[in-house]
Amino acid sequence: MPVVNLSNGREFSATAGDSLVEAALFAGITLPHSCKTGRCSTCKCKVSRGETTALQTETGLTDAEKAEGWILSCVRSAQTDVTLEVEDLGDVVLPQSKTLPCRISNIDQLTSDVVRVTLRLPPSADFRSIPGQYIDVIGPGGVRRSYSLANANTADKNLELHIRAVDGGMMSDYWFKQAKANDLLRFNGPLGTFFLRNLANLNLVFLATGTGIAPVKAMLESLTNNDTEYAPQSVTVFWGGRTAEDLYFDPQTIQAGHRFVPVLSRAAAGWAGVTGYVHNALLATQPDLAHTVVYACGSDAMIRSAKASLLAAGLPEALFFADAFVPSAPQ
Ligand SMILES: Cc1cc2nc3c(=O)[nH]c(=O)nc-3n(C[C@H](O)[C@H](O)[C@H](O)COP(=O)(O)OP(=O)(O)OC[C@H]3O[C@@H](n4cnc5c(N)ncnc54)[C@H](O)[C@@H]3O)c2cc1C
Ligand code: FES
Repeated sequence: MPVVNLSNGREFSATAGDSLVEAALFAGITLPHSCKTGRCSTCKCKVSRGETTALQTETGLTDAEKAEGWILSCVRSAQTDVTLEVEDLGDVVLPQSKTLPCRISNIDQLTSDVVRVTLRLPPSADFRSIPGQYIDVIGPGGVRRSYSLANANTADKNLELHIRAVDGGMMSDYWFKQAKANDLLRFNGPLGTFFLRNLANLNLVFLATGTGIAPVKAMLESLTNNDTEYAPQSVTVFWGGRTAEDLYFDPQTIQAGHRFVPVLSRAAAGWAGVTGYVHNALLATQPDLAHTVVYACGSDAMIRSAKASLLAAGLPEALFFADAFVPSAPQ
């Protein structure tokens, strides 16, 4: 069985045909990942030794990245012994993901194209997540779509989702035209590795577009319990929408002292606030990038351009984390 080495010295065996991410998880080692279908690039890393085989198309890589030797470890298996230029998530133990039934408790209209859906779990359900993670909702006809959990505390067995309507979307059609209280659904989760790491001595910055604010809300809620020893020096949320109506809640209400910068791309006349892209709004504040950690969530386009601009401006790559709301693989 091929042996996979990581840059921090950890190693695991990989069964032929299993992705590197799955083989690592099987060995109790967590590599960064999200969609596990080669689309979001969260698991992107370089191979410095050995051969790997693509199990699926690596949609999340450009031709230039492929030519430079990048792979997506969620859709690659080891052909020979391999060394990957990536570190695992250390001692983080992911909550076990499972498939559970749930019922819709409430559907609240937040804007003209966003609803908040509250799902109720059975009282006996054993479910725990790390704030920032997502679930896959399995809807009518088995359609499976990913949604970030917008609440940190899931102990009361309620899961909050913020869902934006996508034109012609299969699950959008369900959520916005058919779904009603008490509907029975299933979901699988929690999933992904988009959650807060060590924040001590760092300025914590969130960049969100649209419903990308959902996992940010969960992470902000979790910070209210943070031990001061591990607390960040400051917390700032840059949230982008088209108009002011798109920004449907004020992140500062979660905890006083957090800074919120609304950023509009189609601001109405008279808007005196920030316009344009969220990462440009961050750069305009001349942040101390050596001591800043960025968590970005929302559109793939925002995440790619934010990462490129911030890394070019001096943000260390290890201090940029993201969850891209990429479309699902065709079913
Ligand atoms: C990890 C993760 C977390 C997510 N969390 C959320 C969340 O919290 N809230 C939320 O609203 N969405 C979230 N999404 C996106 C969500 O999973 C669906 O992709 C989205 O709701 C569209 O599903 P649909 O069935 O309505 O459309 P589909 O039937 O899947 O797609 C219809 C058409 O729209 C295109 N399309 C699909 N999604 C998008 C998009 N985002 N932008 C542009 N075009 C698109 C498709 O390519 C297709 O052509 C998340 C995605 C991922 C991967
Ligand atoms: S591309 Fe690998 S986890 Fe999304």
